Amino acid sequence: MTDRYAVLGNPISHSKSPMIHSLFAKQTGQDLCYEAIEAPLDGFAATIERLRHGGYQGCNVTVPFKFEAYHCATELSARAKAAQAVNTLSFEGDKIIGDNTDGAGLVRDIEQNIGISLAEKNILLMGAGGASYGVVLPLLTAGAKLTIANRTASKAVELAAQFSAVTGGGYENLAELQFDVIINATSAGLTDSEVPLPEGIFAEGALAYDMMYGRETPFIKFAREQGAQVADGLGMLVEQAAEAFFIWRGVRPDTLPVITALRG
Ligand code: ATR
Repeated sequence: MTDRYAVLGNPISHSKSPMIHSLFAKQTGQDLCYEAIEAPLDGFAATIERLRHGGYQGCNVTVPFKFEAYHCATELSARAKAAQAVNTLSFEGDKIIGDNTDGAGLVRDIEQNIGISLAEKNILLMGAGGASYGVVLPLLTAGAKLTIANRTASKAVELAAQFSAVTGGGYENLAELQFDVIINATSAGLTDSEVPLPEGIFAEGALAYDMMYGRETPFIKFAREQGAQVADGLGMLVEQAAEAFFIWRGVRPDTLPVITALRG
């Protein structure tokens, strides 16, 4: 019988995950189907139960359910615990195993696809919301030296305090500093708000990475003007999916043709 997976979110019609997983399945010769399901805002847990008892092997979880998925899981990976959020669930008997592949996807995109090793690099993570929580542990595991800045400084301090050797605070603390990689994990790209970074913050040959994709954000525009190399989050999207696919299927798909297909 064909194995079944899904992505749950609300809204979900825009999701690229069904296309990505279909391409992975085709490429690796796996017999599975993957669909997008809009769970009611007050019905996430019920939808999970329906899938679990309806022959599904697992699911991805996106906005706004990643925190609920974290609470639904009966077992959590270390990176899901650090993220306090789950984007990948595996149904195994009575167990609901929660993982978070967002950070691994980000690290893999930067290291494998863009070709920049994060070990010993000075990284600035902008934002201290859910997107940032999802990536801190994998960035540290890759050996990055991490600073977190956020508009509400106290939230960056709180996130940084959960890890040793991570600095957190407001953007005003960044004067005179330089970073090898700056990652935008804020939702600020959605508006044309001013970029809260000082000129000269990019080190020679630095990378500016925006977790968003689909349009050039003010952050990417600023980074370009400052002479940095730039990247959007499409590679991260595909890599986090590949990591979920690997958890479920034990096979690592080749992501580059899928990234190319999505850009096309
Ligand atoms: P997500 O789950 O996508 O991270 P979130 O938890 O609402 O969403 O967090 C959004 C992040 O973007 C926060 O770090 C937020 O900063 P505050 O904590 O100060 O609210 C940041 N953010 C949103 N709009 C911003 C803006 N115009 N300038 C700077 N930071 C912004």
